[in-house]
Order: sequence, then structure tokens, then C-alpha cells
Amino acid sequence: MEQVKVILADNEIPRQWYNILPDMPTPMHPPLHPGTGKPVEPQDLAAVFPMNLIEQEVSTQSWIDIPEAVLEKYLLWRPTPLCRARNFEKLLDAPVKIYYKNEGVSAPGSHKPNTAIPQAYYNKVFGIRRISTETGAGQWGSALSMACRMFGLQCRVFMVRISYDQKPYRRMMMSTWGAECIPSPSDFTRAGRRILSDDPESPGSLGIAISEAIEDAVGDENARYSLGSVLNHVLLHQTIIGLEAHRQFEKIGEYPDVVMGCAGGGSNFAGLSLPFVRDKIHGREVSIIAAEPASCPTLTRGPFAYDFGDTAMTTPLLPMYTLGHGFIPASIHAGGLRYHGMAPIVSHLVKEGIVQAQAYDQIETFTAGLKWAQSEGFIPAPETNHVIAAVVREAELARQEGKEKVILFNWSGHGIIDLPAYDAFLSGKLTQHALTDEEIREALKSIEGYPKP
Ligand SMILES: Cc1ncc(COP(=O)(O)O)c(C=O)c1O
Repeated sequence: MEQVKVILADNEIPRQWYNILPDMPTPMHPPLHPGTGKPVEPQDLAAVFPMNLIEQEVSTQSWIDIPEAVLEKYLLWRPTPLCRARNFEKLLDAPVKIYYKNEGVSAPGSHKPNTAIPQAYYNKVFGIRRISTETGAGQWGSALSMACRMFGLQCRVFMVRISYDQKPYRRMMMSTWGAECIPSPSDFTRAGRRILSDDPESPGSLGIAISEAIEDAVGDENARYSLGSVLNHVLLHQTIIGLEAHRQFEKIGEYPDVVMGCAGGGSNFAGLSLPFVRDKIHGREVSIIAAEPASCPTLTRGPFAYDFGDTAMTTPLLPMYTLGHGFIPASIHAGGLRYHGMAPIVSHLVKEGIVQAQAYDQIETFTAGLKWAQSEGFIPAPETNHVIAAVVREAELARQEGKEKVILFNWSGHGIIDLPAYDAFLSGKLTQHALTDEEIREALKSIEGYPKP
């Protein structure tokens, strides 16, 4: 019988996260203080994050021990299986072997608790009582709600209004884990009130929700802010995915030709791929591809520039591919991919040509997701459908080239709570959507005159 799942035992779980910073072939540009234009100092971030996480953010150590209390919680669903998608392979009928890391097996249903758990833990250890955050699709908000509950912290989540309306079950999950969920933009913060006074019907965006959550956290000395993607420490925590996958491939004596993930802020993509990027930097041949939405094409059509991580311009200036902090993406169903920027680590790797990026229209992504659901059974999250579309394209390429390929991708989450999105697709209500050059030029006006990396 052919092996479909490669399983690691509990005692084979990686004990350290991998930090790519010391392995980067060229140094990354530092985040800048918007007031002084100088690199930010750890102290500048102290009102926003606990110092133990700030230390991880700037760490130059290659390997960072995972605390026992975090490992104990990881074991609730990790190590996750590496699966071979035999049925999908048959359907595509191309010369490819397709493996995927199933990150949909966590309680909230995605990769997000891989960082929610350590972030809650480090805040608790630092003496913080409440965490404030934003959420797009609701996956991050629900993961942090669960993690905060596990470590006895209060949690407040600003949820992008369009997702709040589209996904009531995510809000209910957050309430079940004891968190407070507020649609953003809200009356709760100055940033929210400013947006609402300009546009009372604003669908919200991740950039706006981040501004609200930061403002809320900074105004309470017992609270800190937490971000579910983009930052170095978030990507660090997510490397548990790729480190497990690496061991699982060793077990079966295989190695991927292509490693892929969908990219919103870049955390699940980086989490799977960074250990393979490390191999690539050290001479191994492997393609590494990030899939993003055509309606929010940060990596494929944005410039590499300094920009704020949020709409109200409260974060440091980050060196990243961006569509401008004022950009409000179309209300596509892949709420977790609607972010104007991209993780500086992922941006740097794209700029250096180590990672490639591709953009996919939502019709192509749902078509691929449906093929997946109808062959492998599991219903993917709309975000995950982007990487499945990329797998379909890669398989097609392999057929045209007549080359055999081993593909590895991250199945970042399930779509059981995203069924209205499938319903919209199946009833023909989804339309193709891509940005025009004019829209991009307009959005980028917000970063004119900023320092250049
Ligand atoms: C299932 C799923 N995949 C992917 C993403 C995108 O985030 P990131 O790029 O940080 O992995 C999200 C974000 O909400 C998500 O919920």
C-alpha cells in the first residue's frame, strides 16, 4: 500500500524555531522611526510589544529554543501530517507528486495558532494582562482568542467589518474562547472614528484594524498589541511548519522541487518555505513560490519601498513590497490576503530573486479549490485556494515541459466557516477582479516622498 500520510511522533516535534536573518545573503534594511528617519530601537516598540518578543524580532541567533509551555500546547495538534494528494494528482493527470502540510488540523482551523500560542505565552511571562489585535478573515482573531484563554489573558479583536459581516461564525468562535470582537472601523478609537467620519460605510481593511488595535493597546499599560503576520518573530514561530516538513521528507527520502504557499502578510508561506530557503541559500536547487490575489498584488505589482504597516501610520516604516498604506483592497472572500504590504523577510527574498511571486484571480482560485474539495474531500480556506491554483499551474507546466516534479505546499487552513464564499462562487456571484495600473498609481501616492530602501 502506498503511503499517503507522513507522521512525526510527538517526541519528534522540533524543539527550536529557525531564524533566517543570519543566513540572509545580503543584509536587510532596518525598520525606520517615522519621526527621526533613523532605525528603530527596541525601546521605541516597548509600549506596543513585550520586550521578550521585541528581542526575538531583532535576534541574530539562528536557532531559538521553543519554551516547554509552548511545546505542550503545540502538541494538541502538532506535528501536523505531511500528506500526499493522490486524488488531486489523478485529477490533474500531470507528472507531479503533490505533498501538502495540513495546517487545517489545529482547533481554530489554520496555521495561525503556531504564533498565537507563543505570543500569548511571552506576553503572560512579561506580566501583560490583555492583548489587543486585528483580524481579517477571522482566523487570526480566533487563534489568538484561544491562545489568550489558554494562558489566562484577556483578548480584544478588531475584525475587518466586511469579514465581520461575511463570517459571523468566526466572531462566535472568538466569543466562545472568551474574547471580545469589535467590527472595524469602530467608534472605539480615534483612528476608527476618523475613517467612519469620511466613509460611514467603510468595509474596513487590515491596515485600519491594525491602527485601531495598536491605539487600544498603547492606551492601556497592562495591554500590548499582537500581530498575526508580517513581523520577523511571527515568521520565526511559523517555521515549525517547514522544520517538520523537512524531517518528514527525510523520512521518505524525497525532496521537493517546488515549495509554495499563499501570501497575505507572508507568515504561512514563510513558515513552510524558510527552512527550504536556507537550503537554497546553501546551494540546493529548489523553486520557492508565493501566491497572492490579483486584487491585492503586493509582491507582483507593488514597489519595494518604505511604508507604514497600518493605515493611521502608527507603526515604524517597514522595508517591503507595498501598495500604499491607504490602499483598501476589494472585498474578496480571501480576507486574510487583503493586506497592502508584505513581510519584510519575504519582501527581501523576492527582491534578491530567491523567492518568486505569482498573482491569481479569485475565479481561478475557487475553481482550483473546488477541484481540491471534490477530489481530496477537505474544503480549503479561500486564502489556501490561491496556493492550490498555483499548484494547478505548476502541474500544467510540468506536463508541458514533460518534467517530473515534486511539489510541496502549505494547506494553510480549512474553509468550513467560509462556506458562504463557496456559495457565492457556485451561484455565479463572484466576478474576476484585478487592479488597474491607474488604481495602483493612485494608491501609491500615499508613500511619495518616503525614504527609499
Ligand atoms: C487560512 C489562511 N491562510 C493564509 C492567510 C494569510 O496570512 P499569512 O500570509 O500571514 O499566512 C490567512 C490569514 O488570515 C489565513 O487565515
